[in-house]
Amino acid sequence: MTEATSQQDVVDVLSNDHREFLDLVEQIKVTGATEQRRDLADTLISELVRHAVAEEMFVYPAMRRHLPNGEEAVEHDTKEHKELERTMKRLEAVDADSPEFLDLIRELEAVLRDHVADEESEQFPELRARIPREDLVEMADKVEAAKAVAPTRPHPLAPNNQVFHKLVGPGVGLVDRLRDKLTGRPT
Ligand SMILES: [Fe+2]
Ligand SMILES: [Fe+2]
Repeated sequence: MTEATSQQDVVDVLSNDHREFLDLVEQIKVTGATEQRRDLADTLISELVRHAVAEEMFVYPAMRRHLPNGEEAVEHDTKEHKELERTMKRLEAVDADSPEFLDLIRELEAVLRDHVADEESEQFPELRARIPREDLVEMADKVEAAKAVAPTRPHPLAPNNQVFHKLVGPGVGLVDRLRDKLTGRPT
């Protein structure tokens, strides 16, 4: 095995997630079947929440510490996560065949594209420039582990399962809720 060269660092992992999200958005926009659109949107929501939580737990603290403008960058990025979260909550509540559904998908896409561009063009290159590769590989493992511990993706046969609905329940932040679950804090 050529582990040393084939191992992904955290930037690879997060960037792959970003591609996956944008790909899901494209699929949702062209999918005519309501039920399938709902499933894709639910998948997007749960994957995006897990990604945001993993970033906030393991990557943003490193950005804060190591980037020259770390505090500001994290503040900006966290604000955008909250924006995404608000849109996802609304998205969860509307019918997949309503016109509002696609409006919300477009709204989500706009913030997501902006957010992804910021991370990939500014913060991620800085992380690679300032943090040793082995630490970034270790961070990748932590991110993957965090995402695996929190399987919020709805079961394929039960797209609107209970765990998922609890997560997006009213009055509770998606990201906070999942973070509490990961850290074992009572919710
Ligand atoms: Fe990200
Ligand atoms: Fe992010």
